[in-house]
Amino acid sequence: MKLTYQGHSCFIAEAEGHSVIIDPFLNGNPLAKIKPSDVKVDAVLVTHGHADHLGDAVEISKKNNAPVIGVFELVNYCTVKGASGHAMHIGGSHTFPFGRVKLTIAHHGSTTEVGAVGNPCGFLLTMGGKTVYHAGDTGLFSDMALIGEINTIDCALLPIGDNYTMGIEDAIRAVGLLKPKMAVPMHYNTFDVIKQDPESFRKGLEGKPVKVKILKPGESLEV
Ligand code: NI
Ligand code: MN
Repeated sequence: MKLTYQGHSCFIAEAEGHSVIIDPFLNGNPLAKIKPSDVKVDAVLVTHGHADHLGDAVEISKKNNAPVIGVFELVNYCTVKGASGHAMHIGGSHTFPFGRVKLTIAHHGSTTEVGAVGNPCGFLLTMGGKTVYHAGDTGLFSDMALIGEINTIDCALLPIGDNYTMGIEDAIRAVGLLKPKMAVPMHYNTFDVIKQDPESFRKGLEGKPVKVKILKPGESLEV
């Protein structure tokens, strides 16, 4: 699976001729290198309703005839706006033509201009035989150990920005619970309040059985 970072919590995953985007915050994202019109995907995965995650999901869904995938209430919000959707909920998994998606808990909020749009979530995404865990926006939680026990996580995408989500110390603990083969920090340096040095995350995991990859916006890695 090829993973390309678009800044903040946005990633594009590609495998076997399919591609999906997660948390497509492109318009208004000072770190994004692409525009919504550049995106060609089979599906749009959205962890929660906050603008820095929902982003351009509706526009990308419409242009690509690609379903928005997320919790029921958030998907309903998107389909009312003209997107196509596939509603799921926490703990549920589904196999799509591009791969398998399972929704995990995330401790956070999820609102839009209409109010709350259900619970936030994280994603376990399996494509091309590899599994990526995108934590969404969340604090540290001990069930990450269960997620790591049930799933072989090839790559964990973890927020490190602090203030709204885990900071670096808690993200280092999250890696210990999830036991991924690879970890990529996200949700930092987009705004002043979430400024972090990702090298501290790397240093904190030195000597641990995990490869830390710090991606610049626009950069890719092979999982
Ligand atoms: Ni959020
Ligand atoms: Mn956020």
